[in-house]
Amino acid sequence: MPGNERIPVTAGNLFKELAQDIAPVPDLPASISFIHPCTHHFNGETRMKILGINGSPKGEKSQTRRLVLSVLEGARKVGADVMFVDCCDLEIKYCRACGTCYVKGECIHDDDMPALLEKMLDADGIVLGSPVYINSVTAQLKTVLDRMSDSIHCQSFTGKYGCAVSTAGGSMADEVADYMNQVLLNLGATTVGKVGVLLGADPGAIVPAEKQAKELGRKLAEAVKTGWKDPAQAKVQAERRGYFKYLVSANKDNWTHEYEHYKTMGWL
Ligand SMILES: Cc1cc2nc3c(=O)[nH]c(=O)nc-3n(C[C@H](O)[C@H](O)[C@H](O)COP(=O)(O)O)c2cc1C
Repeated sequence: MPGNERIPVTAGNLFKELAQDIAPVPDLPASISFIHPCTHHFNGETRMKILGINGSPKGEKSQTRRLVLSVLEGARKVGADVMFVDCCDLEIKYCRACGTCYVKGECIHDDDMPALLEKMLDADGIVLGSPVYINSVTAQLKTVLDRMSDSIHCQSFTGKYGCAVSTAGGSMADEVADYMNQVLLNLGATTVGKVGVLLGADPGAIVPAEKQAKELGRKLAEAVKTGWKDPAQAKVQAERRGYFKYLVSANKDNWTHEYEHYKTMGWL
């Protein structure tokens, strides 16, 4: 129907680049713009890029959003360019488990996921945020994560850093943040920590949590800057890479895109 066309995020209309001081949530800049070119050198001329993704459906009213933005603010204060997106502003369809991404490196769906993935791949650091919904992440964030199994096979976040934040009414904020960090690690990234907070009986707990989140953002940006290595995570990453090399090689006649990726990366 005319007037109902989906406006793809490739136009850069849904990602908020937070170049100035990150204001309290209600004062977030309304202007939404696209990003800078990808670069990963920090020689004084180039900048690190950190992308925050919030899984809450509540937009500007989201408490989790406050934590994601605090992480970004902490990172920005030590020199990062930061960007933010609410999953609920994107059109992301369910994974159909067709396996086309393993074969071709692209999805059958026409939606906002390729643009979101492009921004994740362009970033040096990723912040995942979700409220706890029935002991897990929200459906909005899980739908995004389910669309990333090709990225996990390809270990596409190798060399990137990440962290996670979660809010809950009464339980499992830490566990859900741990889950998001595990996903980042499965993607090949190195994680630097988490903030989880229970707000049901104490809504004011968001304030000290924001402070912790800012510190987490500083830590994330410092990890990017210094190329921080964590031997325990490096061991897991090496094991995961070995496993996916085996899996992709075993399916090389079908999963041609993934096999080519492993060849190109020199990982075979
Ligand atoms: C559908 C739904 C499911 C929820 N499930 C849980 C839960 O399992 N455990 C819990 O402690 N809180 C649960 N909550 C409460 C939220 O996690 C909590 O209010 C959170 O801070 C909301 O974050 P947001 O403001 O970023 O959306 C649930 C809330 C909703 C709406």
